[in-house]
Amino acid sequence: MDDLRNTYLGQIAAAKDEATLEDIRLAALGKKGEISLKMRELGKMSPEERQIFGPKLNALKDEVIAALAAKKAALADSALDARLAEGWLDVTKPARPRRMGSIHPISQVTEEVTAIFADMGFGVAEGPRVETDWYNFDALNIPGHHPARAEMDTFYMHRAAGDDRPPHVLRTHTSPVQIRSMLDQGAPLRVICPGGVYRADYDQTHTPMFHQVEGLAVDKDISMAQLKWVLEEFVKAFFEVDDVELRFRASHFPFTEPSAEVDIRCSWDGGQLKVGEGDDWLEILGSGMVHPKVLQAGGIDPTQYQGFAFGMGIDRIAMLKYGIPDLRAFFDSDLRWLRHYGFAALDMPSLHAGLSR
Ligand code: PHE
Repeated sequence: MDDLRNTYLGQIAAAKDEATLEDIRLAALGKKGEISLKMRELGKMSPEERQIFGPKLNALKDEVIAALAAKKAALADSALDARLAEGWLDVTKPARPRRMGSIHPISQVTEEVTAIFADMGFGVAEGPRVETDWYNFDALNIPGHHPARAEMDTFYMHRAAGDDRPPHVLRTHTSPVQIRSMLDQGAPLRVICPGGVYRADYDQTHTPMFHQVEGLAVDKDISMAQLKWVLEEFVKAFFEVDDVELRFRASHFPFTEPSAEVDIRCSWDGGQLKVGEGDDWLEILGSGMVHPKVLQAGGIDPTQYQGFAFGMGIDRIAMLKYGIPDLRAFFDSDLRWLRHYGFAALDMPSLHAGLSR
């Protein structure tokens, strides 16, 4: 009995894999196994003998079964350990660069502009691209006979014959969102309104659809000086330069009074734009103090409140910042162009991480 015990427990301890364990189990406990055969011999023994050998054999059988189970579990553990050691993965490694599409420069610049103005307390408002003629013109102090309507090369939506209500238009600028924001939110108010706009025009610097971002601040003590500071902060942050010089040129817009077009000092040395130095001036936006009639159309009392507003072309400032020569390419969906000028899909521009890494 002790020999049997030593043999099998020894073999089990030395087994290196599950197949060997199974062979041992069959040799000891299988139908023709050594221990099984001994169990069968109990039948031929005298009752006295059986009383001595029966419990001993059963104890031996239990011991071998337990040793087999324990060894099996230990082998499984070390097999797992070996697999874990082999399948080692360094989760601190950078992701493999893989193309998953890219961000269009217009989306990128919209995000950049939004991040800059958000930092100055401006929210984002949006409006529909198909506008009523009231929001696009009348509410902005451009009545029916006003020449600005013709100048804007407006797309008018078709009206059925006999329907003489004024037609809807494809909005010609983002300024109607000023009116919508004032009516929605009241004063005080600070918003930017980015989005697509439409004018019937097509050449290297004009496309029938393009993008603007409008800015509007309304409060009891808003001044032109604040407009200037906000625009300076914006231009510095957007072009990522420490200093800029802005030039306010008197201009005219029906919805602002006074109105100014804003230029930034720049140089085009070697065909490359440098903002903040040089002897050239680059026009980037229109702006002014919101006309009292416009505040009124927005449901705001012009004797209590004033505001500034500005509007600029997103595509245009994208072309300037990223050196993109032809506006029309923005809308061609040419993959080679997108791969060249697009931005990494998972990089959100932010002021602290850098706008355009
Ligand atoms: N809406 C004007 C345009 O499209 C820009 C602008 C906006 C000017 C706000 C002044 C104030 O040209």
